[in-house]
Amino acid sequence: MDKPIFLVGFMGSGKTTWGKKLAAKLDIPFVDLDHEIVASMGMSIPEYFEKFGEEKFRLLEREFLQKQEQREAIISTGGGTPCYYDNMEWITQHGLALYLYHTPKSLWARLSKSDVNKRPLLKGFSEDELLTFIENKLEERAPFYEQAQLKFEQIHTPLEEIIALIQQYQSTTR
Ligand code: S3P
Repeated sequence: MDKPIFLVGFMGSGKTTWGKKLAAKLDIPFVDLDHEIVASMGMSIPEYFEKFGEEKFRLLEREFLQKQEQREAIISTGGGTPCYYDNMEWITQHGLALYLYHTPKSLWARLSKSDVNKRPLLKGFSEDELLTFIENKLEERAPFYEQAQLKFEQIHTPLEEIIALIQQYQSTTR
């Protein structure tokens, strides 16, 4: 059995949408950490933030992350997951991490088209404020994302090329 493959990257980087495609191609299950949390808590992420606060969410997120240890699956993490506690170290020790890199402008273009109210950290920003937030937050988080074993600009890299990289990496660590 191969180790789990964790997708890491900023909000809006395509971890869920693209992760599903990758899982289908590799014929392994797809797991979305946020969806697991939502299903088990019976409330949305913004509702959870509002009720219990971000600190409690980060603890819960860590608990759900560590449940994925023995799963041969593609696991989409939340944008903040690798950046709290020793989560990124845990991820790279227990699986293969793929960083889905985007420039701040690309994230901005993607996120400004999405419903920002679904993401508590983005709630209430104007377009300009959103870009500044992305630039600053990405700079803060990049040192965590950069610890991933593989990094690529998903929008410019064909899926087949990424699969070849994954398989090459797995064959050397099996
Ligand atoms: C967060 C990202 C979200 C979700 C929560 C916090 C973050 O996941 O976990 O809103 O801190 O970046 P996505 O990256 O799937 O949007």
